[in-house]
Amino acid sequence: MIYLDNAATTPLFPEVKQVMIAHIHSNEYGNPSSVHALGRKSRNAVEDAREQIALSIHANASEIIFTGSGTESINSAIMGAAFANQQHGKHLITSTIEHHAVLHTCQYLESLGWDVTYIPVSGDGVVDVQRIRSAVRKDTILISIMYANNEMGAIQPIQEIASICKQNKILFHCDMVQAYGQCDINVQELMVDMMSTSAHKIHGPKGIGFLYLRRGLPWHPYIHGGKQERGRRAGTENVAAILGFAKASEVTSNQLQEKQQTLFTLKQAFLDIIQNEIPVGTWIINGQGQSLPSILNISFLGIDAETLMISLDLTGIACSHGSACTSGSLEPSHVLKAMNLSDERIKGALRFSFSVMNTIEEVKTAALEISKQVMNLQRKVKL
Ligand SMILES: Cc1ncc(COP(=O)(O)O)c(C=O)c1O
Repeated sequence: MIYLDNAATTPLFPEVKQVMIAHIHSNEYGNPSSVHALGRKSRNAVEDAREQIALSIHANASEIIFTGSGTESINSAIMGAAFANQQHGKHLITSTIEHHAVLHTCQYLESLGWDVTYIPVSGDGVVDVQRIRSAVRKDTILISIMYANNEMGAIQPIQEIASICKQNKILFHCDMVQAYGQCDINVQELMVDMMSTSAHKIHGPKGIGFLYLRRGLPWHPYIHGGKQERGRRAGTENVAAILGFAKASEVTSNQLQEKQQTLFTLKQAFLDIIQNEIPVGTWIINGQGQSLPSILNISFLGIDAETLMISLDLTGIACSHGSACTSGSLEPSHVLKAMNLSDERIKGALRFSFSVMNTIEEVKTAALEISKQVMNLQRKVKL
């Protein structure tokens, strides 16, 4: 299997596997909230992991809340900020290309009486900053914009958006699920108030994420119960997953520049073959501005991407059609629709996403096979 679906999820780093297996095999099963020695051992392990995660984004450890996923982090950030600040206003701003974790949370808040403005994007999938500025109202309390899109990788003008938030005393949440571990993130320089991430996108385990919550921010917990995570997220911590997340973060942070270079080389090698093999004018890259080096979204004109994806799967190449959460549905991608692409471009769009665990040979083999299959399908359509 040549796995080119790393934006959906990534394989575990061997170091992560080792840490998690060692923890499971150890006799350190104490509840981190227990006061006895076994509990304290687990507590110390969780707090060391928190330090590592905080270091990776230049935050303070007390600002990191472990959650059960990127989706939970996003729900907690948006709902927590909306409920805690409703006396100041009930207006939120987001974009039309956000992940459903953001869009459906906003829609839920709308059903409870909040007002949400959805900012459109350019044909390259970049949010219009001027439209954000104009959408700000006296009752705007939160802006939530993703750092990089999960379907075509477009990087958003986060610093400009953060400045608008600061000037207008509006909270800023950033969905960094795709960007964390690929971009050098410094929460002080970026001026974000809240950011959401997920371990399984950086070769960590599934079912663990973190929410960065700037110290002193008006915010209400989203999950109620015990006093874990300083009363901000109830529920006994998933110690093995937290340790795995911290190890994935450490490995990634130590080789960030190398990783960026490797991903760039893989993407370019893939693209060079597509460019050489498939005739110009029969395919188009979606999101041609600044984008993550790990994601490449291409529309192959005249063909049905679903058919191509299934045929590639049969030859051992995994890629995806839209994001993993929606690719099982027959709905066209809301992201490509928001970019105002033609029906033909949306129908023929496939996402290829790379990781440092791919080899250059794999990527070249896949690109040659994809080119062959695309041209076969395009020939059949012409007949
Ligand atoms: C941009 C973005 N936000 C949020 C999520 C949700 O993260 P999780 O799968 O950890 O719930 C994803 C997952 O694909 C994503 O790509």
